Amino acid sequence: MGCENSKMEKCEKKDKSAEAIESNEVAHPHMEEESEPLTVSPRQKELILENWQLLVDNISNVGVITFMNLFETHPDVQDVFMPFKGLSQEELRHSKELRAHGLRVMGFVQKVVARLDEPEKSEQLLKELGKNHVMYGAKIDYVDLIGPQFVYAVKPSLKEHWNDEVEEAWIQLFKYMASIMKAAMLETNNCQEKNSTKS
Ligand code: HEM
Repeated sequence: MGCENSKMEKCEKKDKSAEAIESNEVAHPHMEEESEPLTVSPRQKELILENWQLLVDNISNVGVITFMNLFETHPDVQDVFMPFKGLSQEELRHSKELRAHGLRVMGFVQKVVARLDEPEKSEQLLKELGKNHVMYGAKIDYVDLIGPQFVYAVKPSLKEHWNDEVEEAWIQLFKYMASIMKAAMLETNNCQEKNSTKS
């Protein structure tokens, strides 16, 4: 896996010791040559598409609740977002910025949902998003936190449309998204490190 840096060079393949350190830091299927990349099964795609239709009209609330839950359970993540640093739960609930941010994130989920049968397109988008998140100051491990909070946010409103299979389908979709984002973040970190040791 190569990466572009400011000098438009390719990062060379990492040496074994660096790989060992990284594999402890984040277990990533794209990094392990023997294992298959994470995918969403045809049945899971079907369930996600059905479920999304039921959620889409209320998606801006889903975004707010997802992030409020995330900040409540992981206050350190709230501090990564400059506009939300130090805000109380009540202030967050009414924050226009949080609503706008939630909508951006949910809009991205929608893009992935709309491209479930075109994985090469969503992978490209997710790689770019992962690279951007290094700039935003998000830690690699934070990316895994969103899926469970999304599930927690949507579950109560879906009542009879919710079951274990649906929950697993959403969790799998977020794992899939996170796996690609994290690989791109790791690659960006490696390239930045390599460039800083060169100069
Ligand atoms: C599945 C997981 C996630 C998705 C789909 C996602 C999506 C997005 C999107 C679409 C944006 C708007 C800017 C852009 O397109 O680059 C954004 C911005 C941002 N994200 Fe994420 N994100 C995720 C996880 C996280 C996590 C866990 C953090 C924790 C620190 C985070 C921190 C940020 C920050 C700081 C910004 C910039 C502020 C802003 O645009 O409002 N993101 N994210």
